[in-house]
Parts: sequence; C-alpha cells; structure tokens
Amino acid sequence: MGKHWADFQLEIYLNGMTGTVPRLPTDLTRLEEVTEQRLGPGPVGYVAGSAGDGSTARANRDALARRRIVPRMLRDVHERDLSVEVLGRALPAPLALAPVGVLSIMHPDAERAAARAAAAQGVPFILSSASSTPMEEVAEAMGGSERWFQLYWPKDREVTRSFLARAKASGYTALVVTLDTPMLAWRPRDLDQAYLPFVHGVGTANYFSDPAFRAGLAKPVDEDPKAAVLHFFSLFSDPAKTWPDLAFLRENWDGPIVLKGVLHPDDARLAADAGMDGVVVSNHGGRQVAGSVGAADALPGVVEAVGDRLTVLFDSGVRTGDDIFKALALGARSVLVGRPYVYGLGLDGQAGVEHVIRCLLAELDLTLALSGHATPATVSAADLITGPA
Ligand code: FNR
Repeated sequence: MGKHWADFQLEIYLNGMTGTVPRLPTDLTRLEEVTEQRLGPGPVGYVAGSAGDGSTARANRDALARRRIVPRMLRDVHERDLSVEVLGRALPAPLALAPVGVLSIMHPDAERAAARAAAAQGVPFILSSASSTPMEEVAEAMGGSERWFQLYWPKDREVTRSFLARAKASGYTALVVTLDTPMLAWRPRDLDQAYLPFVHGVGTANYFSDPAFRAGLAKPVDEDPKAAVLHFFSLFSDPAKTWPDLAFLRENWDGPIVLKGVLHPDDARLAADAGMDGVVVSNHGGRQVAGSVGAADALPGVVEAVGDRLTVLFDSGVRTGDDIFKALALGARSVLVGRPYVYGLGLDGQAGVEHVIRCLLAELDLTLALSGHATPATVSAADLITGPA
C-alpha cells in the first residue's frame, strides 16, 4: 500500500478544530488571482503571462475541461497506491515540478525553497537552466532527493558539455531538453512593462558560474556585467539546431534524455529514432506559440505514435487533481506542474510549494478513488468522454 495522499483532507479538517484554516486556497485555480493581488506586476506578469493574446494558455485549460471523467462504482478502492515508475525511477506519485526559470523574482529563497518542498514530498524537482541559483547549490539543498536537469541547449558546445558534466556531478539523474524555445516568443505582458529579468543578470546563475561560459568573457562578470549579459543572450539558444544534433547530447549524457515541447506525432517518432528515452507533450504553458494546439489535445496522438517506445510525460494547463487523472487517462505516464507551484512559492515560500503538491495529490488520490481506481495503472481512455467545447 502506498501513502494515502488524501489524508491531507482530514488533516485540514482536524486543524480546523483549533481554528486553523489553510493559508492558501485549496482550489489551486484561485492561486493566480491571489498572486496578482499580492505580488508586483513585473514578476506576476512574467509568470502568469503567455504568448500573444493568451489563446494557447486558454486552449490548454479547454482541452482538459472538455474531457469529462465517467466514474465507476463498487471497485474496492480502500487501499490505494499512487506510485509509478518513470524513466527507471520509482516515484511516489505521477507528478514532478516543471522547470521554471528565475524563481528569485517570486521569493528570495527561490529554487532552494521549491527544491526542498519537492524533496520533502518526494516528487522530482526539475531545475531550469535559467535558474537564479547555481545547480550545485540547489542540489545541496535537496540532499539525495530526486532531481532532473532541464537544458536550454546553448549554441556553444563547450558550455553545453560543461552544463552536462556539472549536472551529472551534482546528482541530476535525467536530462530534460527543451526544444520549444529556440527564441523567446512575443509576450505582451512582459513587453508592455519592458520586463525581462535576464537583462539584469537574473536567471543567469548557471551561466555566470560556468567555467566554459566565463572563458568567453574578456573581463570577469562583476567587472563588466553588461558584457556578461550580452554573452548570455548570444549563446543561450540556437535556432539552427536540427534532429541529427541530438547525437551530441546522447554522446555526452549517459542517463535518460527527455525532449520537452513535443506536440506532433512525427516529432515524437523522430525523438524515438534519435535514441531518446521520453518526450514531454507540452506547449510551455502557452508561452511560446499563440494559436497552438492545446497540449491535452496533442497528447493522444503522441501516445499513439510512440507510447510503446518512449516515456510520455505531459504538462501545460494542469491545475487540479482531476486534470492529472485526465492526462493519465490520455496516456501520460506522469505530469509536470508549472505555474501553480510558482504561485505557491511566491505566496508562502517552501510551505506554499508543499501546499500545492499536497493539494494536487490529495485531489488526485480522491479522484482516483471516487472514480473506481486504486492505482494510476488502471486509468485509461475508457474513463473519459469528450464533451462539447
Ligand atoms: C516556464 N517554463 C519553462 N520551461 C523550461 O523548459 N525551462 C524554463 O526555464 C521555463 N521557465 C518558465 C518560466 C515560467 C514563469 C513559466 C510559467 C514556465 C515552462 C514550464 O516548464 C512548463 O512547461 C509550463 O509552466 C507548464 O504549464 P503550466 O503548468 O504553467 O500551465
């Protein structure tokens, strides 16, 4: 028997006996509105904002909302186990914290607090290349807990090699290569405020601490920070890359490699052909291509194309436990959650991130049980119908 995440519900009610209520909403769809009220417009705009008019972020929510669960009864769900195996790792539940850059704009404890929260709850923390804390320091804050490294694939081969070597040496087990950001999309909320943390050298910690990056600078970072920022922009990403380039990553990383941002079944097939281990079906939370397909609408096609060859993960639009249930039913092995944990961090530091993880998994546990499932393994497309848009 696994941990009963649903016990969080009773814990909340029992705390109520002494007049205590949760510090943050338990309906996680409300976190954005609370964050908008309490945090500054620059950081909130950066996190909540999307590409273009926001149509892809809305499509992500619509694609999940259109699918409806058809619960089954009398199936003995009194003992449940949410644990899953993902990329050869045993995880307590089908959830990981998505890579999100520059967390220091939300809370001074930034990535350390989020990573500690993930560690405390046993879910993997995926550290962004664009973190505001160097990867070694985040690893140290997490002890031996599960962590993966997300790569924004630099133009410079030496920096790429150095990032991979550092990630390996500091205990990151899987490499998540984000393909959907060879350049930053048109993001009106940031543009209207002329707000981009990287310009100020925020979110560049892995680069500024990297020997290969520093070798490309005429002067040390603190003597000429502007030149360091410009060097960062010059090598941060590379729109010229193509599928054969993946061989370089395969040669330089001996653990699992997952490609994030795959939406087309043919791209999923190319990932499998290139010897990758998995894909994350994701549109970056609607932050890259406005007018893009909702991520959950793309998921079944990718699962059909490569479900027997690759581990298929999912993100973009997950806000509740029933969203996770739906993603599993559409064929995802596990989901990543982005903005909700970032809002939790901004509102209440490590405790806020733990609140988000516990709410999501308590709600997933209850949704599974109330729909007739004792484990994620039995959830399938037969549990869903698709309603009108
Ligand atoms: C992101 N995301 C992201 N992805 C990535 O691979 N590297 C990164 O550095 C970032 N940075 C980032 C910053 C912010 C503020 C957000 C909101 C998102 C995308 C992230 O990993 C994930 O794909 C989405 O957040 C998932 O969508 P939801 O859960 O936010 O709807």
